[in-house]
Amino acid sequence: MTATHAFWLAGRQATGTETFDVHNSYDGRLVGTVAVPTEAQVEEAVAAAHAVVDEFAATPAHVRAKALNHVADRLLERTEELARLISAENGKPVKWARGEVGRAVSVFRFAAEEARRWNSGEAQRLDTDQGGQGRLALTRRIPKGVVLGIAPFNFPLNLSAHKVAPAIAVGAPIILKPAPATPISSLVLGELLAETDLPAGSWSVLTVPNDRMPALVQDERLPVISFTGSDKVGYAIMDSVPRKHCTLELGGNGAAVVLADYAGDADLDWAANRIATFSNYQGGQSCISVQRVIADAAVYDRLVPKVVAAVEAQVTGDPSDSATDVGPLVSEDAAKRVESWVDEAVSAGASLLAGGKRDGATYAPTVLADVPDDVTISCEEVFGPVLTLKKVDGEEAAFAEVNSSKYGLQAGVFTHDLHTAFRAHRALEVGGVVIGDVPSYRADQMPYGGAKQSGVGREGVRYAMDDYTYERVLVLTGLTL
Ligand code: SIN
Repeated sequence: MTATHAFWLAGRQATGTETFDVHNSYDGRLVGTVAVPTEAQVEEAVAAAHAVVDEFAATPAHVRAKALNHVADRLLERTEELARLISAENGKPVKWARGEVGRAVSVFRFAAEEARRWNSGEAQRLDTDQGGQGRLALTRRIPKGVVLGIAPFNFPLNLSAHKVAPAIAVGAPIILKPAPATPISSLVLGELLAETDLPAGSWSVLTVPNDRMPALVQDERLPVISFTGSDKVGYAIMDSVPRKHCTLELGGNGAAVVLADYAGDADLDWAANRIATFSNYQGGQSCISVQRVIADAAVYDRLVPKVVAAVEAQVTGDPSDSATDVGPLVSEDAAKRVESWVDEAVSAGASLLAGGKRDGATYAPTVLADVPDDVTISCEEVFGPVLTLKKVDGEEAAFAEVNSSKYGLQAGVFTHDLHTAFRAHRALEVGGVVIGDVPSYRADQMPYGGAKQSGVGREGVRYAMDDYTYERVLVLTGLTL
């Protein structure tokens, strides 16, 4: 019998009157039972966070940096245990889960470094005209208030880290709401935060169900919302609280462009292997996984068999086995949705070059060509191990094809030409362009976020710190500059 996992209420463990179970989507086994906070407990956590806003903002940088470094150290020590836990609750192959823990370590480390640099400020002389003579402006960034961090299931630890670490770095209290499918790794993060000296009210991890999220979203004491998830839910949140600051990290249907100059055998092998790996990592459940491959006609016919062979070489199976590349999706329902989209595309005339089969929650790595533009998989984020192939004539057509999506998170461009790289950077309507690789590259210190319907605002430790704060100017007068 598994013990119930308590949630974290203003820095201490608590249980409510209800629980829910978390199951592994590969074999259905029970991973854990999690306590649900009552409404009174949620109120207590929000009130405690609100009460500590000024105290936390005034906490010395070295105290916040020490706490952040402590969490990084402890995550590192507990890497294997956490990787196994993420794999169990999410279905992610353990080798990818190990990478996720490593990234969360980095996020807390970067946050510790940024906390020390933060608010070292800027002096601006104002005697640039007569009226400002003898005046100097100093700027510092002030937390906007308590952050409500809403984390998704696909990187349950690292995307929680991306909400929590920048908040601590700037001294903003945070209420973290993990995804109901994958709450336990966030609760372990709570264990590590509880080992620090951070003020009690400055953080909570509340395992509230999604149908109670609107009450948190509406709460005036939580002026900043940082959400990662679907565009439907993200925009519903933003539309319901237009006066709050919302950072939305939403979907994408990442494109990998292979241009005519990327024509050597080694080039195409590299491109095909990267495409195959990153259309399938975590079962394609990453907002920057490769969904669309757009290849110049000059290389298309040689690229396609290499992509198909590399996709078929992906090892599908038990996520707890270190040799597994592709595990199950988060649920059988998710796999059934992907199956229905592929079936729709094939019925509409698409050619199935690999995969196309479902076994429970596992969907086989799949390659489609000649996909009509108006089927669901051509328009929406598949969030599954499926890629589509498209042949185009020339760079301009390739870039136009990337931009034909309503999404704009990241794009990858395989080219050796620096001028093309700069043209891609100018032309592509996305938050990030990766040259010589797939769109699925993310370093956690980089600004990360979307254009168009892929979101609003940026994560990446320092950029989230900007998002959680506002600039306040101090004007000094009567000075000799
Ligand atoms: C996401 O799915 O938006 C996050 C991708 C990542 O952090 O690598």
